[in-house]
Parts: sequence; structure tokens; C-alpha cells
Amino acid sequence: LSDTIGLRGAVSLSHHFLKDRIREGDRVVDATCGNGHDTLLLAQLVGGSGRVWAFDIQEEALQNTRRLLTERGCIDRVEIVGSGHENLDRIINTPLAGIVFNLGYLPGKNRGVTTRPDQTVSALHQAGTLLQSGGIITVCIYTGHEGGIEEGEAVEKWASSLPGDEFSAWVCRQPNRTSTAPYLLLVEKR
Ligand SMILES: C[S@@+](CC[C@H](N)C(=O)[O-])C[C@H]1O[C@@H](n2cnc3c(N)ncnc32)[C@H](O)[C@@H]1O
Repeated sequence: LSDTIGLRGAVSLSHHFLKDRIREGDRVVDATCGNGHDTLLLAQLVGGSGRVWAFDIQEEALQNTRRLLTERGCIDRVEIVGSGHENLDRIINTPLAGIVFNLGYLPGKNRGVTTRPDQTVSALHQAGTLLQSGGIITVCIYTGHEGGIEEGEAVEKWASSLPGDEFSAWVCRQPNRTSTAPYLLLVEKR
């Protein structure tokens, strides 16, 4: 399962929680599939009887994800969705065990195409509604690029508005790295 080991950064920490929580047969979403690494982990965790929807707005990301999942023999359980995650609840109407956001830009590509706070927060609102009891939302947040700090603030504002009797929300930062190091926001529906 997956190449991420240890707890070196926000992505590996998110994978730790996903491995703990996602089970065979679950339905899950990768809201920003990019090069497909998170989609691959999700596809491995849900197995042949599960379902993964992988969203992205860039053709290259969709192709990269399709290629990786095909190479790794998991494409059968994955639906690649060429649409923004702000359309989440127009496309999915089933309860979800996990919803993964990995914000920012496609690594190695045009930094002009990044996730946007208004769309991210809209998608997170929808994700909170679609999440099943015991399900988790993971959000890896990058503040090193233009607009990244504002996006992190918007995501934290959304999380702080969640009713505490229904959701547990966590922010996980690394105090021994620079202030621009990626960090993880985690939400569980009780
Ligand atoms: C940091 S990358 C994701 C990395 C990916 N999870 C992986 O494992 O390789 C962020 C991705 O979000 C995508 N993105 C930007 N705005 C989006 C939106 N509104 N809906 C879905 N994806 C979006 C970008 O195209 C980019 O590929």
C-alpha cells in the first residue's frame, strides 16, 4: 500500500489517518487528484468492491491519474471526474467514508492554476454534508505560493464554524519546520 511511510509531512500524516479509517468497500473522493498519488492510496484501501471519485480541472492531471491507476491495476474502481470539486454534490449523492483535499498547484507545472479559497470552501461545505458518520476529511494546506496563506485561513475558518457536537476538527503543524511548511487539517464526523 502506497509509498508514503513515516510521518515526514502533511501528506504522509494524512495517509496515516486514511489507512486507519478507510475500509474495503468504502466510497471515497479525491477532490484534487493531480498526479494520482492520493487516488492510488484510496483505490488500494477501498479494494475492488469500493469506489473512488477523483476530481481535477486540468487535463494533464486527469491523464496522469488515469495512467498511474491503470499501471497499478486499480482503475476498475476509480471514476475520473473532469470537473471542479465545487461541483461535488452535483456529481455524488452517496455517503462518503473519506474526502481528500491536497491544495495548491500540480507539482512541477504551471503555478497559475491552483485551488481557490472560494471553491475549496464551497467543496468543503458539501463534503461535510456528504460525509458519513465516522468518516474523515483530510486537507493538506500549502502556504508557500501566492494565495496559499489566505486559502489556509479560509479553510480554518470553515473548520472553526463546524458544530462541535457533530464534528471533531484538528489542525496539525510541524513546529520544527519553517512557517510555510505544509500542514494538515483533519475533520471527523461523529
Ligand atoms: C497539489 S495538487 C494535488 C496532488 C495530488 N493529490 C497527488 O497526489 O498527486 C492540486 C491539484 O488541484 C487541482 N485543482 C485546482 N482547482 C481545482 C478544483 N476547483 N477542483 C478540483 N481540482 C482542482 C489542480 O489542478 C492540481 O492538480
